[in-house]
Amino acid sequence: MIRAVVRGFGAALPKRVVPNAELEKTVDTTDEWIVQRTGIRQRYIAGEGETTASLGEAAAREALERAGLEPQAIDLIIVATASPDNTFPATAVDIQARLGITGGAAFDMQAVCSGFVFAMATADAYLRTGLARRALVIGAETFSRLLDWNDRTTCVLFGDGAGAVVLEAVEGEGTVADRGILTAQLRSDGSHKAKLYVDGGVSTTGTIGHLRMEGREVFKHAVGMITDVIEAAFAATGTTVEDVDWLVPHQANRRIIDGSAKKLGIPLEKVVVTVDRHGNTSAASIPLALHAAASDGRIKQGDLVLLEAMGGGFTWGSVLLRW
Ligand code: ACO
Repeated sequence: MIRAVVRGFGAALPKRVVPNAELEKTVDTTDEWIVQRTGIRQRYIAGEGETTASLGEAAAREALERAGLEPQAIDLIIVATASPDNTFPATAVDIQARLGITGGAAFDMQAVCSGFVFAMATADAYLRTGLARRALVIGAETFSRLLDWNDRTTCVLFGDGAGAVVLEAVEGEGTVADRGILTAQLRSDGSHKAKLYVDGGVSTTGTIGHLRMEGREVFKHAVGMITDVIEAAFAATGTTVEDVDWLVPHQANRRIIDGSAKKLGIPLEKVVVTVDRHGNTSAASIPLALHAAASDGRIKQGDLVLLEAMGGGFTWGSVLLRW
């Protein structure tokens, strides 16, 4: 049985760090409020010349280097993003060209904060069915450019960045002891659209629009949706919460992360948290967190790693993989 195994990982952040104190000068907020409600202490904000494609390219280059692969070895690029450089073509083809890759397929995946989980699931399906052999899966965002910087209820929450992994098709035994993606569980429910959306678009206003969110409503659904897809991943693989070495959640809010871990019975020492440093970077948050925990030696080869996300749509999903 073919498994999609992580062979390399990378990350990129904009140069500029924006601590909460800086936002106190522009909107009616305080460091204390932001830390208490979200756990966020700072975020990175893209400057001139820094875009979703440039951040994604940098993350991809590091992932390729760690994998020991030349760009041409890649035959699939999926970029999870809700903040593309252009309406079209896909940011993935931009990154493909920047890397000098001329073969294979490249396309974007739009599932907002769940984008990286959806992209991993898609790449896994391509690799397992032989449609591709080596995939770059990238989560890259410049959400700062979708924010209404006068709206304190949203502008304090988000940040920019990118993360990437190289997945390679490797023959496995078909057991949960295999390295690679063991299961992916994806869900969407468009009836929640109005709770978290961007109020513009090509076919409606002809503008980019701004992110709008009913934070309390999102919060209300988050923990239940996250635990649903995690329990589905355990059921699909016959694993249990005790088998998990690392939970790498989407980094939206410290309270959502802690609430989900508590409900599932996962001790906080096994949870990777970067929301304090990065804010919510949407589709980039999981690969940024993976990068943090794998590069400092916490996540080791053979560890069982559980990814989960929930976001606009709503969309939500989990990926269980052995590193
Ligand atoms: N600074 C100071 N006060 C603020 C700020 C701010 N930045 N933002 C809102 N407030 C005020 C509100 O106006 C409100 O004041 P009022 O009581 O006088 O009306 C008060 O703080 C409480 O507001 P709530 O919205 O009830 O605060 P809550 O405790 O729900 O926290 C938050 C808000 C942090 C957005 C929370 O609802 C949340 O985390 N929701 C989840 C949404 C999320 O993380 N979305 C990310 C995108 S989706 C995803 O990635 C999963």
